[in-house]
Amino acid sequence: MTIQAHIVGWGKYVPERVLTNDDLTHMVDTSDEWIRSRTGIVERRIAADDETTATMSIEAAQQALEIANLRPADLDLIIVATATPDHFFPATACLVQDALGVPHAAAFDLAAGCSGFVYGVSIAAGLIESGHHKNALIIGAETLSRITNWEDRTTCVLFGDGAGAVILHANGAEGGVLSSALGADGSGGDLLYLPAGGSRQPPSHQTVSEGQHYLKMKGREVFRFAVRAMPAATRLVLDKAGLTLDDLSLIIPHQANYRITDASAKALKIPPDKVYSNVDRYGNTSAASIPIALCEAVEQERVHRDDLVVFVGFGAGLTWAAAAIRWSAPLPAAPLARWKRAWYDLSYRYATVRSLVRRFVRWLVSRFIKR
Ligand code: ACO
Repeated sequence: MTIQAHIVGWGKYVPERVLTNDDLTHMVDTSDEWIRSRTGIVERRIAADDETTATMSIEAAQQALEIANLRPADLDLIIVATATPDHFFPATACLVQDALGVPHAAAFDLAAGCSGFVYGVSIAAGLIESGHHKNALIIGAETLSRITNWEDRTTCVLFGDGAGAVILHANGAEGGVLSSALGADGSGGDLLYLPAGGSRQPPSHQTVSEGQHYLKMKGREVFRFAVRAMPAATRLVLDKAGLTLDDLSLIIPHQANYRITDASAKALKIPPDKVYSNVDRYGNTSAASIPIALCEAVEQERVHRDDLVVFVGFGAGLTWAAAAIRWSAPLPAAPLARWKRAWYDLSYRYATVRSLVRRFVRWLVSRFIKR
């Protein structure tokens, strides 16, 4: 029997704080008109001081688990795609694993810029299809506000924070992830990058005072790459799945700029309503943008059972990625019974206690057992 990876759960989290274009006009020399007409962005969400990539990931993951009707213990793989992890290490995926109380999952972060979520879906689908894993949680999450230079008008108007997640489940039924395609062109690495903080330029007073810990971008070049990569990747995954643009129900692209998604739709000669867009409300949330957009498309009934949905992204690296999915989960998702909600709440509390006990035992062992 052929095993396919099916999306069975999805969830998103966006911070409460809204930063509008008008707010930005008080911070840098810009205008609502410039931002709207060049990008389509009207507002974006900014994480609160106590929110991080991990905390937002956990919220999105909890929703995805509840929709999938799976226990945290059922997960055996956690991937967090992010360019803004809580730490270099441990991986944010490990923080998520601990908070959810997932005892036996492999957990790692994935750095492929805004394409990271689709990279994660493709890798997890491959591991499921080969029989290595059964239930994979793939999260795209970013706290880009922490690496944004709020005095640089060429970048600060573009980005926002948030997280989105899906759960892929091994199933013998037809559908699910039909095909995927991943690519990179490292010669474009300097078009979008964070200069300092890594081994090439370790943090120092100088790197901080020079603002080298903020993301830098050559927007025009990234734009040119995106409008070529998105249509090409979409065609490629459809081709790999033996399908055509006529079979397509909806493209859920990386949300960076309305002009990019619009140009991609034109290049593919498909109507704009087949390309989902919510960049107006969240800006560019990098790896989080596709799963957040997916959740909203589902909520707005833009996705139906048996629909052919394509995820397509591009980003820092430069990278690009696409995946074609035959939607197989029942919609709308069944509401969560009261007792089930209580059960999930209890299991997350148990995870906190479990983590504290493990830390305490580790402390005891290190204190009393001398080697
Ligand atoms: N407000 C007002 N004026 C501005 C602003 C602003 N916020 N930002 C730039 N300008 C000015 C520039 O200074 C320039 O002025 P000049 O002509 O006097 O020099 C003018 O506007 C035009 O600037 P461009 O950079 O050429 O503007 P462009 O039309 O290319 O739009 C943008 C810029 C929106 C960044 C666009 O290039 C873009 O969207 N690029 C893709 C970016 C992207 O998708 N990045 C994410 C990649 S994914 C990831 O991994 C994070």
